[in-house]
Amino acid sequence: MRTYKIAVVPGDGIGVEIVPAAIKVADALGRKEGFRLEKSQFLWGAGNYLKNGEFMPAGGLDILKHFDSVFFGSVGLPEVDDTLPAKDYTFKVRTGFQQYVNYRPVRTWPGFHGPLKEKKNIDFVVIRENTEGEFVQVGSQIMPDTPNGMGIDTSVFTRKGIERVAHFAFRLAQKRRKKVHHITKSNTLINSLTYWDRVIREVAAQYPDVEHHQMYIDNCAANFVLRPEIFDVVLTTNLFGDILSDLGGAIMGSLGLGGSGNINPEKDYPSMFEPIHGSAPDIAGKNIANPLGTIWSAALMLEHLGETTAGEKLMAAMDKTCAEGILPVDLGGSFGTAEIADAIIERL
Ligand code: NAI
Ligand code: MG
Repeated sequence: MRTYKIAVVPGDGIGVEIVPAAIKVADALGRKEGFRLEKSQFLWGAGNYLKNGEFMPAGGLDILKHFDSVFFGSVGLPEVDDTLPAKDYTFKVRTGFQQYVNYRPVRTWPGFHGPLKEKKNIDFVVIRENTEGEFVQVGSQIMPDTPNGMGIDTSVFTRKGIERVAHFAFRLAQKRRKKVHHITKSNTLINSLTYWDRVIREVAAQYPDVEHHQMYIDNCAANFVLRPEIFDVVLTTNLFGDILSDLGGAIMGSLGLGGSGNINPEKDYPSMFEPIHGSAPDIAGKNIANPLGTIWSAALMLEHLGETTAGEKLMAAMDKTCAEGILPVDLGGSFGTAEIADAIIERL
């Protein structure tokens, strides 16, 4: 039996509802498809910080690195300093494991109508640079309590960092509809993003079979709403990708629909799969969280592990469930988190 070692980190808020739901679905799929997920659970996150003063133990990455993948919910609680979740967990894993590709697909779903007036055929992937850019957290606050106080954050864009994510995006486009939009704001960020543009153009020249367009972030945001059907692969920076992928979730119908993978393409380290949204404390503990984005993340994890057919079957079962009107509350339905997972298992 093909066995994969999975580190399960449910995190906080709705993480403890949607992650078990997705794992239950993935286990059921494994029984049908002939693989087994050997899981170890780690109760890390803001809840752990309240109890033990840390999001994850000091040797957390050494523990995780022995797994084939990490399956993650999200971290953060209203009663904990919200500068800590990314710094002390998410970014540590993403950068520590060189997960430089954040893969965030967006598509049309059957069974409900999203917020866009016309139902269009949307099918694109946001490839967000995931280890540098605006999120390197290098900066300082100077004299913050004085009238002359200031806060500074530095963005870092390296040739190596841009090249590797750009190559991933163009290779992905070759397997899809052969189109990359690279998102920038180099008309105003004239040092970092003109360099981003230049290096991407150099990479693009190596893929003459792929159409390459440069687009400003502000125009891109408008086009996500007005003309989302034009996109195939959207290559963006860390901050822009964070924002655009929530907008991608929103045009599908809900943030709860967005799945993602933090990928280390070389497989030198485990990749980490998680929904695009946060811990949603406003709806936690009510069994109303939408598990579809997390289950989609499980499908992406299975594909990454080589279980491509299983991933496809899982997507088909999710589509069937939605098409039959078995929908969560955020999509206008009345089904709970656990009920949706069970309905998907019945349709596998
Ligand atoms: P959020 O994504 O948790 O929630 C935004 C809105 O979307 C809320 O109204 C929420 O109820 C709704 N929503 C999110 N996921 C949903 C789902 N599966 N089903 C139905 N509705 C859903 O973002 P917010 O409120 O800005 O942040 C809450 C906490 O999550 C913060 O502590 C933040 O730092 C953390 N966070 C953690 C992330 C991570 O661990 N990767 C990513 C984003 C936020
Ligand atoms: Mg985000």
